[in-house]
Amino acid sequence: MFGLVLGVLFATTATVVSSSPPPHPLDPLSPVELTAVRSAVLASPLVPDRPINFHYVGLDEPDKGDVLSHAYSSHGRQPTLPRRAFVVARAGGQTHELRVDVSNASAATVLSHNVHHGAGFPRFTVDEQVAAALLPYKYPPFLESVRRHGLDVGDVTCGLFPSGWFGGGGGTAKPTRARLAKLQCFVTTAASVNLDARPVEGITLVVDLDKMAIVGYKDRVVVPVPQAEGTDYRAETVGPPFNGPAVAPGVVVQPHGTGVHIDGRIVRWANWEFHVGFDMRSSTIISLASVHDADAGRRRQVLYRGFVSEIFVPYMDPEEEWYFHTFMDAGEYGIGVSSLPLQPGSDCPANAVFMDAYHTGADGKPVKAKNVICVFERYAGEVAWRHTEATLPGPMITEVRPDVTLVVRTVVSAGNYDYIFDWEFKTVGSIKCVVSLSGILEMKATSYTHVDQIKEDTHGTLLAANTVGVYHDHFITYHLDLDVDGTNNSFLKNTINRMRNTGNPATGGANTPRKSYWTVNREVAEREEDGQINVNGAPAELLFVNPGKTTKVGNEVGYRLIPAGATATSLLSDDDYPQRRASYTKKQVWVTPYNKSEKWVTGLYAEQSTGDDNLAAWSRKNRSIKDKDIVLWYTVGLHHIPYQEDFPVMPTVSSTFELRPSNFFERNPLIRMRPPNANSPNCSCHV
Ligand SMILES: *[C@@H]1O[C@H](CO)[C@@H](O)[C@H](O)[C@H]1NC(C)=O
Ligand SMILES: *[C@@H]1O[C@H](CO)[C@@H](O)[C@H](O)[C@H]1NC(C)=O
Ligand SMILES: *[C@@H]1O[C@H](CO)[C@@H](O)[C@H](O)[C@H]1NC(C)=O
Ligand SMILES: *[C@@H]1O[C@H](CO)[C@@H](O)[C@H](O)[C@H]1NC(C)=O
Ligand SMILES: *[C@@H]1O[C@H](CO)[C@@H](O)[C@H](O)[C@H]1NC(C)=O
Repeated sequence: MFGLVLGVLFATTATVVSSSPPPHPLDPLSPVELTAVRSAVLASPLVPDRPINFHYVGLDEPDKGDVLSHAYSSHGRQPTLPRRAFVVARAGGQTHELRVDVSNASAATVLSHNVHHGAGFPRFTVDEQVAAALLPYKYPPFLESVRRHGLDVGDVTCGLFPSGWFGGGGGTAKPTRARLAKLQCFVTTAASVNLDARPVEGITLVVDLDKMAIVGYKDRVVVPVPQAEGTDYRAETVGPPFNGPAVAPGVVVQPHGTGVHIDGRIVRWANWEFHVGFDMRSSTIISLASVHDADAGRRRQVLYRGFVSEIFVPYMDPEEEWYFHTFMDAGEYGIGVSSLPLQPGSDCPANAVFMDAYHTGADGKPVKAKNVICVFERYAGEVAWRHTEATLPGPMITEVRPDVTLVVRTVVSAGNYDYIFDWEFKTVGSIKCVVSLSGILEMKATSYTHVDQIKEDTHGTLLAANTVGVYHDHFITYHLDLDVDGTNNSFLKNTINRMRNTGNPATGGANTPRKSYWTVNREVAEREEDGQINVNGAPAELLFVNPGKTTKVGNEVGYRLIPAGATATSLLSDDDYPQRRASYTKKQVWVTPYNKSEKWVTGLYAEQSTGDDNLAAWSRKNRSIKDKDIVLWYTVGLHHIPYQEDFPVMPTVSSTFELRPSNFFERNPLIRMRPPNANSPNCSCHV
């Protein structure tokens, strides 16, 4: 339905048909299934040690071929596919991997079990983050330091930081390696809840998470804690004078009702249909996205599965308290676990429909995450296509179609940062991914109160007295399993080359005064090595085509990747430890053959990973990617130099990329789009 206008009043609620069994094969595990998984693991003699801590429980989705037959079976008879869970649990100092069948939740069975002996550990559970943060209060040297820093221990809050990996064990870390993490602390008082703005600089504690004990401690320097004034961001503490009148978001009216139809977790809207899943590591998962082709009269596949695989955030301060700040938010904390309830009316507009999700607590019990995904139609006054013909005799001809889109949104609060992730579906056939960054900077306390005092590199920007916003990067990597009109696709690079007009028709030139032009050369990627691209290099267009399907005039049907804006690559040296762990960050584009196990760009075990199991390592296999089921890994990259406007809380900065049909349709797919209804109610801005 394209009759969306911003105006007054309220929106129709979308039709929500409640999800009743049987589940879709890609539905996340239900609370009943999660409970059954827990019971099966607890009852298994394969994991005898107690306690068992559940670090990850997710859907072990059925084989892709089976899911595709289920989704696209034209004869209605859909096969019943098994419901399985993949579990990573820690017990007795070991990392256990289990596959559990929950097809019958009353008789869940462990199908396989393995103990992980390689490098890396699973994410921190919320329980261990909480338990670790309480340890310093019972650690006398810390209490003494707090007094030495002139602070009241009641005002100090500590948080758990991954210690990263800085050598030792090489690529084959010893299984005896301890799960060590670090604690750093902040001041919070009634005067300000902005703890990131008030670090207790100089103190670092080392925690052994399996022993849940402090095993290391440093109090290196005493630096003043930045003052509370000006750091709070809550409306009630910021107080007047306000910056003009309140800016009320326009309320949405949809005079002809919503165009969104949600059936379980399948969303149908305009020409799109897709499934919205959820995972405790990656948050929202878009699956089986297909677009209806009005000319062909059928639904055509575009994306099998898309999700955010990792957010890698290395800080650029080599000092003792900062060098290890090299976060992998999905692998170390879980961005699904960090997806918090959306605020209706401000995180999502009034016409949004909300979806819940479940993840698993350390005890294995399901944890409900309410309203963590919202789905809404958006009209922001954009134009989908238009033309005015003024040259013909008679009245001017103008045809305009408004661009109404559908957005699936999740917000991830990864500690200090907030990432707003949008999957935006456009009627033209594009999928646009938008990531918007907000939240609070990581700040370093300093003795400086003015830029004039600074002599050396502070590794950041002086944002306020005694406060440096430390330089850092954000690398957000998407896993995009494109299936352009079928599973077998090829990746091609259309390079744009400068040409010189020879002036001689005998050698392909033109006998005209023009001296130069450009043309396109097509290169099909054969191997994974050819699928690694730095998009900031020579001008090129990157396409995913189906060599088995052509348009009527013979072009291979395709989608192209349009990177926009944030295309930074890592500037760390190749031998630096965090770079070895995230070695894929020197190129934005990697194409690999589909492998169900290759989901996590930083490897299955990102915490203290050593780089031996990551995207770059898989790609070194140099497998064939031509006319195969292939996966695009795309990294949005930003070098973040903080500025004062980012303090005390950052206004949103957005980056996008788009997957856009390119010879996929026979013609503009919107040619048959109906013009907007002239009888839509007018905007009334006065109440
Ligand atoms: C599920 O398992 C229970 C317990 O073993 C059994 O009684 C029941 O018949 C099973 N259901 C199906 C559909 O197989
Ligand atoms: C699929 O990925 C897993 C994990 O990286 C790996 O062990 C396996 O060899 C891969 N299979 C192929 C065919 O590359
Ligand atoms: C990848 O495979 C191609 C074709 O076999 C070969 O020419 C190329 O050297 C290989 N590259 C690497 C890095 O192994
Ligand atoms: C896709 O490619 C694989 C081998 O690369 C081949 O076995 C399969 O038949 C192809 N599928 C289609 C639909 O062409
Ligand atoms: C909208 O405004 C126009 C111009 O003021 C007016 O002619 C029209 O009747 C209005 N439409 C509605 C539905 O109120």
